[in-house]
Amino acid sequence: MSPMDTLAAFNLHKLPFTREVAVREMLSLSHFEQARHGLLACLERRMSAAIIGPAGSGKSALCRALRDALPEARYRVHYVKVADLGKRDLCREVATAMGVTSAGSYPMLVRRIQEDFAQSGVADGVRPVLVIDEAHDIRPDVLGVLRILTNFDWDSRLVLSVVLAGQPRLETLLKKATLEDVAQRIAFTARLRLLSRDETANYLAHRCAIAGQPQSPFDPGSIEALFEMSQGNLRAIDRLALGALDEAATRGAKVVAGSDVVAARRRVLA
Ligand SMILES: Nc1ncnc2c1ncn2[C@@H]1O[C@H](COP(=O)(O)OP(=O)(O)O)[C@@H](O)[C@H]1O
Ligand SMILES: [Mg+2]
Repeated sequence: MSPMDTLAAFNLHKLPFTREVAVREMLSLSHFEQARHGLLACLERRMSAAIIGPAGSGKSALCRALRDALPEARYRVHYVKVADLGKRDLCREVATAMGVTSAGSYPMLVRRIQEDFAQSGVADGVRPVLVIDEAHDIRPDVLGVLRILTNFDWDSRLVLSVVLAGQPRLETLLKKATLEDVAQRIAFTARLRLLSRDETANYLAHRCAIAGQPQSPFDPGSIEALFEMSQGNLRAIDRLALGALDEAATRGAKVVAGSDVVAARRRVLA
């Protein structure tokens, strides 16, 4: 069964449950909206923030929604994913966010960024925001660089807002004594959680609706199975739901049943 066959079987005009859901097409979830509002208010006050949530709770999606909600005329948002980020890499990312040349050695970069902070660097009124995603994977010494870069006059000159997004382990990391001053700069912590049973059902229907099928093809048994297996983890729902659509299409069914979800899981785990 090709993806095209699945689309045709369920009258969908695009593949649902893909990663790149557009911000305007996101499902409105109350805790997600609350997190977004809190973050916006925090950045408005020129403070830094954290987004804490388990894998598959929508942290990266929230980062995208946040970027989308910040007016371009007033904010320069720079997004970076932690993948073995070293101190120098982090400095480079900070420099880019600040609009400072990011070339040169580590000590040169540190000096240039500090000078830029000292001169405030926001003469045009555009506020730099650095979003660091998957920050739970960041090494403590690298996180400590944030402090070195911004340690002087932090309170009087809030030049750069940092948003750290990561799994709950990030919070533990921030509690370490050596990172106390980084933690102190976090004025707001947004919390995301896995979806409830009802939210999972809404999510399934919503993703099909934005893909062109307003009538959800998932029967109650399949929704229950999807919730039980995913525990409300959005990424797990995505993978299993798409697999279940394929299974149902293969047997020529127009409605997805619990057995399709079981078959999809078997295939995902295989
Ligand atoms: N509010 C939302 N509406 C629609 N899809 C969402 C929403 N939040 C997350 N998703 C989708 O759920 C999946 C997992 O979300 P993601 O942001 O990658 O989770 P995390 O970063 O916490 O691991 C992605 O496919 C994403 O597009
Ligand atoms: Mg993510």
